[in-house]
Amino acid sequence: MKTILTGIRANSVLTLGNYLGALLPIVRLSNKYSREGDNINIFVPDLHSIISEVEGDLAENTIRTLKYYLAAGLIINENVHIYRQSRVPAHAELCWILNCTATMGEMSRMTQYKEKSEGKASCNVGIFDYPALMAADILLYSANYVPLGEDQFQHIELTRNLAERFNHKYGEIFVIPEDTKAQVEFMGVSKPIRVRDLVNPEKKMSKSNLAENSKIMLDDTPEKAAKKIMSATTDSLGAVDFDFETRPGISNLLYIEALVNDTPLETVVEKWRGESKYGELKKQVAASVSGLLSDFQARLERISDAEVLDLLEKGEKYANEVANKKLHEAQKALHLR
Ligand code: TYM
Repeated sequence: MKTILTGIRANSVLTLGNYLGALLPIVRLSNKYSREGDNINIFVPDLHSIISEVEGDLAENTIRTLKYYLAAGLIINENVHIYRQSRVPAHAELCWILNCTATMGEMSRMTQYKEKSEGKASCNVGIFDYPALMAADILLYSANYVPLGEDQFQHIELTRNLAERFNHKYGEIFVIPEDTKAQVEFMGVSKPIRVRDLVNPEKKMSKSNLAENSKIMLDDTPEKAAKKIMSATTDSLGAVDFDFETRPGISNLLYIEALVNDTPLETVVEKWRGESKYGELKKQVAASVSGLLSDFQARLERISDAEVLDLLEKGEKYANEVANKKLHEAQKALHLR
């Protein structure tokens, strides 16, 4: 039996990048594996949210984010557990223990910290410590697989290193999550997922990019999303082909088309290779994305707060039991108990 676990912060409305890189993969994996008896843990890392500004009300955003999973098609059964990080105090406690396992050097090398602190006169300690809390989120539940987008893979490697170091010193307490290669294979892709910015396709699509047309938000109307796709940056090479190095814009559109329809990328590339009218490809991708959004938004409307709160009540009871057990094992190993 394996444990599959993931979380998405609820700082704002999510982007299509979050949806295709993290939300949809966990939903597909959960629907496949929870039936076979594997554990699926989906949580909102709300303690991670407060490292930066939250747009709107965090508690309300949390409920909305959980509704996203349901609207994306998540099937609930007794093996699917939904919870809020802040309601399981063991996360913060294990984070402290892992702080005493991690080194300043390895934490300083984390790309996300470097990007978020670069050029700033001051930066809160939470931004620096973020990956240790994330490691605690994963290790408390003995997770084997952690479906994530590309930007987060470095944190899985750190989690593995911390767990190995702790185990080496104090005994076999933590299950080591699978390595990057196995994680990617498990997600059924050839490389970690990275949806690009529509205006500047060298960069990843990100909610923090202020340019409206650079990103598709999950609350964009289908028409608005279609317009953004139609105005996406491409190139002047004149025939469709796939290569993120030389033609990132057109490649990103092919990539989105494949992810939205759950079709192998090679199949989509084969279909479009050589097409000289980029507009035709854009129209197809615009139709796929707007179709996805209209189905998603219609389902979202029908999910009530009560439904989510009921899942949280059950999920948080379960999460506290599992997490406290693992925390106690670690505390015993350290002679804190
Ligand atoms: P967050 O909220 O920053 O990111 C949420 C997820 O969305 C993915 N993502 C993308 N994937 C593909 N293309 C993009 N353009 C894109 N933009 C974002 C991210 O890779 C991520 O999977 N640190 C986590 C939250 C977390 C967590 C955990 C996850 C905290 N503890 C434990 C798993 C396990 C994060 O990045 O959230």
